[in-house]
Amino acid sequence: MNQDPYLEPLRAALSRAYAPYSNFSVGAVVRAQSGELYSGTNLENAAYPEGLCAEACAIAAMVMAGEQRLIEVAVMARGEALCSPCGGCRQKIAEFALPDTSIRLYSPDALRAVFSLAELLPYSFTPEHLN
Ligand code: THU
Repeated sequence: MNQDPYLEPLRAALSRAYAPYSNFSVGAVVRAQSGELYSGTNLENAAYPEGLCAEACAIAAMVMAGEQRLIEVAVMARGEALCSPCGGCRQKIAEFALPDTSIRLYSPDALRAVFSLAELLPYSFTPEHLN
């Protein structure tokens, strides 16, 4: 049986979370146009607003590797509620995504939901507005 390719890298990213203030760990993995996966985790800070979301860290890793197009975004957290990207991360995803870029939401055990970016951030402000 084919295992979901995001599960293991998401678990690894989740396990690296630095979240001593919220105790809410998040792992994110993005797939770029090349097919390569880039991981990130949430990095909190004693100066609370300086914390970084897992998705932002994964996007930074992708851009640093020389890629600028997001095909899929996967997010994992524990708990009952679906952990979908915060508003700021939806905007960061939109910068590098296409409208049909999918956002996959996981618990540590399984995929729980899939949305398109257009569903999560309709009528978004994008780089095109500045052209
Ligand atoms: N967090 C993420 O990293 N990604 C999300 O999609 C939602 C929230 C982090 C930020 C903070 O470190 C912790 O989860 C609690 O908000």
